Amino acid sequence: MKNKLGTDDAIKRWDRNAEIITENYNEHGDLHREVLLNPSIFSLVGDVKQKDILDAGCGEGYLSRIFAKSGATVVAVDYSQNMLEIARKKTPKELNIEYRYGNCENLDFLEDESFDIIVSNMVIQDLENYKAAINEMYRLLVNGGSFVFSILHPCFVTPVSGWEKKDGEKLHWNVDNYFYEGVYEQSYPQGQTDKVLFFHRTLTSYFNAITEAGFILEGLIEPKPSAEMLEKHPSFEEDLRCSDFIVFKLRK
Ligand SMILES: C[S@@+](CC[C@H](N)C(=O)[O-])C[C@H]1O[C@@H](n2cnc3c(N)ncnc32)[C@H](O)[C@@H]1O
Repeated sequence: MKNKLGTDDAIKRWDRNAEIITENYNEHGDLHREVLLNPSIFSLVGDVKQKDILDAGCGEGYLSRIFAKSGATVVAVDYSQNMLEIARKKTPKELNIEYRYGNCENLDFLEDESFDIIVSNMVIQDLENYKAAINEMYRLLVNGGSFVFSILHPCFVTPVSGWEKKDGEKLHWNVDNYFYEGVYEQSYPQGQTDKVLFFHRTLTSYFNAITEAGFILEGLIEPKPSAEMLEKHPSFEEDLRCSDFIVFKLRK
């Protein structure tokens, strides 16, 4: 598998698919966000009142709106103009959110130490140069600030992974090519024919990038559904078998 697909192609794909990817979003994001990611992110981020927050790779902006409604001042960055357009349309004027076009790998229009908290939900695995982005988040945080980010769990979601099924029953989750580092294509569950680009790296590579940037790893969650969420969304029972996501809390 060659690393021949890059950032320009990725931006075009996000732009082309922005509407379809976000059509099932409500104020909590999509179902995976509501059931698995949001509870983990909110518990790691803590109180956001009067905090300056960067939402790095904001997409249609649901997290920015949740933080702004809780009293934060938010800068939300994305490199898909179509995503930003959807985000701006969904955002009431009274919310304190500034949407900016930019690539998280280089946000030089933002000053050093501008943010108390940076959140990046399901973005870092989309980045060609994730190390540059992690270094950039370090630069943008005040001393003592925190960076919370979620990604596809690199140990379970690899370029070759998925359910082994027999007669429609899910027997077990297969994983192969764990040590592959680079780009791969994947379909979005909504079923559009266009594919999105992800980059796989090992857990060791993520850990090394985090510590080399200067961060301390302060918290880690492998999200699974709570009993309340399972009652509301029973199809998430299978997420008790294996984790699709991992959420990091880093401290500068
Ligand atoms: C899976 S979506 C997640 C959006 C949002 N954080 C959420 O949870 O709904 C990934 C988003 O990151 C953006 N993105 C990916 N790579 C980026 C980069 N290098 N710089 C800025 N935005 C990026 C995409 O355009 C897309 O909107």
